[in-house]
Amino acid sequence: MKLRRCTTVMFEPREEVRLDFAAMLAGRTEPSTTITWVALAAHLEQPVPVTAAQRELLGGLGSRFWTDARDIGCPPGDWQPLLATGLLISDDDEHAAHRQRDEGMRDGHWWPLAALVHRHARWRGVNSAAQMRDSHMVTVNDLRRQLGAPPPAVQPHPGTYQPLPTVEATGYDQLLERRTTCRNFDAARSIDQAQLAQLLQRTVKAQAVVQMEADTTFLKKNVPSGGGLHPTETYLLVQRVEGLAPGLYHYHPVQHALVALPRHCERPLQDVAEAMLSGQDWFSNAAAHLVLVPRFARTNWKYRNHAKAYRALLLDVGHLSQALYMAATEAGLAAFVTAAINEIDTEAVFALDGVTQSPVAIVGVGWRSDTLDTAEFDPNKVVWP
Ligand SMILES: Cc1cc2nc3c(=O)[nH]c(=O)nc-3n(C[C@H](O)[C@H](O)[C@H](O)COP(=O)(O)O)c2cc1C
Repeated sequence: MKLRRCTTVMFEPREEVRLDFAAMLAGRTEPSTTITWVALAAHLEQPVPVTAAQRELLGGLGSRFWTDARDIGCPPGDWQPLLATGLLISDDDEHAAHRQRDEGMRDGHWWPLAALVHRHARWRGVNSAAQMRDSHMVTVNDLRRQLGAPPPAVQPHPGTYQPLPTVEATGYDQLLERRTTCRNFDAARSIDQAQLAQLLQRTVKAQAVVQMEADTTFLKKNVPSGGGLHPTETYLLVQRVEGLAPGLYHYHPVQHALVALPRHCERPLQDVAEAMLSGQDWFSNAAAHLVLVPRFARTNWKYRNHAKAYRALLLDVGHLSQALYMAATEAGLAAFVTAAINEIDTEAVFALDGVTQSPVAIVGVGWRSDTLDTAEFDPNKVVWP
């Protein structure tokens, strides 16, 4: 058997502070600190605790070149646990799944720190809404009470500011004013297929296809994209769109068309949406959810192992979400965006591998309800007069 270490691995000393009960019994309340070294690998979903000897062993092996297991220089009992966890990669069939995920990461040309950030920030089964409620961190007053005052909203520089004219508002200003994150959707009202189509047409549809070579195509869209690569796919969870069966879809930005995707579980769509949205029930009944999913290799093709590539990907998704908000608002619809999503559960819903493609944000659209149950930020009372 041949072995190599995985492509991207970094080590972190994790500190855990606990109350020392022995000291407490002796009348002292000293916290005790334990430090555990963990390996963070880009193809694994969880940190793996490692010993000093295992750190040394991994550090002594290359990730590109194989070493025969007999030449490793330590007994199998030392390296076999690393093989089982996936930190060591082998050429045998039994450990092919780890090898394939590792190769997927390697071929994605990730900058190593970005690969770790994305991989290890993914959530599975988190209920952020329940966590907020349980820890009484829901309102601004809650936050202020528990966290103290935030840094100031504005940080003036010393000196005299020269006043600027306030230019007379146009229809565009009124449109901008009406853009307010919706947390109160009308769960009984459907949107038209034409409304969804227009939303997609204005934001993620290709406005031009530029064929550079037979195998090299660039798309022009109404949103900017780092390197002009437009790596972000749009997956949809449709609940209430006239003329479109409720279900899962993928949008084709050149054909301007939707393809239905298989469902892998029988749960009601709203439950699926709520799980993807980490329990944020105020969003889950939007008429349609658009899951924004970068294909990392498309951006990393140009920005190979590049320190800014992941930043560009995230900014792309931010531009998309604002464009979706504005298009929805102009059409009289309401929208939200959230990054508090269960990426791993969302990947399972749409059969994404989480290595080459993984969701970054979810945008929802629908009609706003007449009743305000969950707070929205509308201090100028434009949406809720
Ligand atoms: C990147 C990003 C993530 C957000 N995530 C959440 C979220 O998880 N839950 C939520 O209720 N709102 C979320 N929002 C909406 C913000 O709370 C909202 O934009 C902010 O309160 C200002 O309100 P406005 O959008 O109505 O101006 C998010 C907004 C952005 C841009």
